Amino acid sequence: MAFTIAIDGPAAAGKGTLSKAVAAHFGFGHLDTGLLYRAVGAKMLDGVEPVAAAQALDVGDLDRSDLRSAAVAEAASKVAVIAEVRAALVDFQRAFARRAGGAVMDGRDIGTVICPEAEVKFFVTASAEVRAERRFRELEDSGTTYEAVLADVRARDERDMTRAEAPLKPAEDAVTIDTSALSIDEAVAQAIAVIEARQQD
Ligand code: DC
Repeated sequence: MAFTIAIDGPAAAGKGTLSKAVAAHFGFGHLDTGLLYRAVGAKMLDGVEPVAAAQALDVGDLDRSDLRSAAVAEAASKVAVIAEVRAALVDFQRAFARRAGGAVMDGRDIGTVICPEAEVKFFVTASAEVRAERRFRELEDSGTTYEAVLADVRARDERDMTRAEAPLKPAEDAVTIDTSALSIDEAVAQAIAVIEARQQD
């Protein structure tokens, strides 16, 4: 049976951790859709034209080891504003969302554009300061500063939220989970309770 859980929100709000935990709990598949944009961004850095890169994207491209780098994150955010890039990635995402056995889709526009019919939608967020703090702790050995990470988080939010094409915003029927003051376990428990209630509808 198909059952889609859409999890949208800004970078470093805890979406990825929450999505993986929810998928594991229900035995659903999980697609981190940011990886699609990162793979296109990485190809752009290799010199490939982004629309052509998106149209030729292969699942194997999602295994590249450099997709988590700051340079690729920056490139991903830039290619994500291109309408033709987004259009080229729609079918792959929708097919995954309706796979048998259920799917957790994590991204920015899943509940609003890719899967407006998703059975459950979440908007996972946290303050920019809390998100920068979390990201900074992950990057601590890289010589960057908290201020630089905060500026980066704010710049990426600004670009993701103000772009004309599928901007980051909660779907009207999304349940918001603000993780600023929640532990991972508390956020996961909230999400599971909402999903279980929907499954019984
Ligand atoms: O979640 P992430 O940091 O891996 O996302 C990388 C970039 O891709 C981010 O700037 C926003 C963009 N993105 C998007 O526009 N739509 C999605 N569904 C997922 C990510």
